[in-house]
Amino acid sequence: MRNKTVKDGRKELTITIDGPAGSGKSTTAQKVAQALDYQYLDSGALYRVITLYFLRGNIDIEATSDLQRFLDAISLDMRYEKNQLSVWLNGDNVTDQIRAPRVSSEISSVAADNRVRKKVNEILHRLARKNGCVAEGRDMGSVVFPNADLKIYMSASLEERSRRRQKQLDEKGIHTKQKKVKTELEKRDLKDSTREHDPLIRPEDSVYLDNSSMSFDEQVQFIIDLARQRGA
Ligand code: DC
Repeated sequence: MRNKTVKDGRKELTITIDGPAGSGKSTTAQKVAQALDYQYLDSGALYRVITLYFLRGNIDIEATSDLQRFLDAISLDMRYEKNQLSVWLNGDNVTDQIRAPRVSSEISSVAADNRVRKKVNEILHRLARKNGCVAEGRDMGSVVFPNADLKIYMSASLEERSRRRQKQLDEKGIHTKQKKVKTELEKRDLKDSTREHDPLIRPEDSVYLDNSSMSFDEQVQFIIDLARQRGA
């Protein structure tokens, strides 16, 4: 674990937010990062970029014997500037492409591979080195930042999560039936929490936040208050 710096008398914390798809982690994590002036790390976005790379190259990750060579050829970057996340694949800005439904449906097999996970985790460690950060995903508190200063496990009912995910897709001009969104989420939840490597779990030392009936501002404030109590 890096040595935390102190800025204006406040500690630079590592905050992790884990939880299933559609739990509102991304928007919440971004807002918390903005409020604390921390770096926002979206680990799912990195898995999405790698999935996009394999889809573009028509490479079947489960069938290739040369996975490491492909992984070594991928240069990934993530920037969070002016409250805007952008992700880059070999110099291309792929921020919008990584949210396409075909990426979501292929991602579980990519994220299940330990070599892919190693690559993503190295990038996260590099990006988190200097300042306070809010890292969100499935294994941020359990595997990637086990000594984080504050760990949140965020969830909401499947109904509520699929409603939110459908709204998000709608806003991007991707119109899908809620039933389909719900089935996809259920499938992804199952794969994420039962896979062999780094499955989605609720770390014992995390704070559980069920936001099914909480407003967005309430959940953001809840996390900021906890961070402040821990010196942020
Ligand atoms: O948060 P998201 O929906 O963008 O994540 C997409 C997928 O990436 C998710 O289904 C599982 C995988 N993922 C993971 O395995 N580990 C993480 N830390 C983050 C995401």
